[in-house]
Amino acid sequence: MATSVIERSNGKAEVFPDLEALSLRAASIFVSASRNSISAKMRFAAAISGGSTPRRLYAVLGSEVYRHQVDWKHVHLFWADERCVPKEDEASNFRSAFDALLSKVGLPKENIHRMKGEEVPEKAARDYEEEIRRFFGESERPQFDLIILGVGEDGHTASLFPGSKSLEETVRLVLPVYLEEPKKNRITLTLPVLNDADQILFLAAGPSKAAILAEILGDGERRKLFPAGSVHPSHGTVTWLIDQEAAGKLRD
Ligand code: 6PG
Repeated sequence: MATSVIERSNGKAEVFPDLEALSLRAASIFVSASRNSISAKMRFAAAISGGSTPRRLYAVLGSEVYRHQVDWKHVHLFWADERCVPKEDEASNFRSAFDALLSKVGLPKENIHRMKGEEVPEKAARDYEEEIRRFFGESERPQFDLIILGVGEDGHTASLFPGSKSLEETVRLVLPVYLEEPKKNRITLTLPVLNDADQILFLAAGPSKAAILAEILGDGERRKLFPAGSVHPSHGTVTWLIDQEAAGKLRD
């Protein structure tokens, strides 16, 4: 149960005592979103993120209690971003989801739409865009039913970092991104894809996120300085699930 709910022009934030409680809430949102989409159109297209915060959610969805609540045969899983490493690598977002969730549920192989982190980044980005366009239909704007995102202390989300040219992209759905520090390649969905989603779910926990959440969930225009603050679906919803420590600097 949320201890408080904060309404903002760019979405609502539900505050929970800890990561466990917000992960259980995220799991119930995943379950109901999947049921609504599957009953409406026989499929549920979700994109997930890496990083540490969503790992507990993936483990909950893969648990005995939750894994039977989702009709995995009709779920299509995509990634919001990936590190350019082999899928067995510890840093791989695919591996993180595989260990906690995919290895525990009956998601058909062909429904797992992995970003090929082992490929040349530009090729991997173009191939993934083709795969997304094939899945949603060439003429359609891809509309994910649910996208799960995190936020970095600098306000990045997926692999869209502050000041990066990738934030200005209006045509391509997927881009390779090079991070000067720590000299790493990533692949990321672009803002137009995030802003076409039906439902965006941000997960953030811990005191290290309090300052950036005060910026992004503050009531000023400063939020647009941060990639996570620029996620504002044209017809969809944004919900932030945060814990008390991450909410520590919010003025409500
Ligand atoms: C990644 C993510 C990234 C992540 C944030 C927050 O590949 O790392 O997609 O955008 O969501 O960095 O990470 P934490 O959850 O570990 O704080």
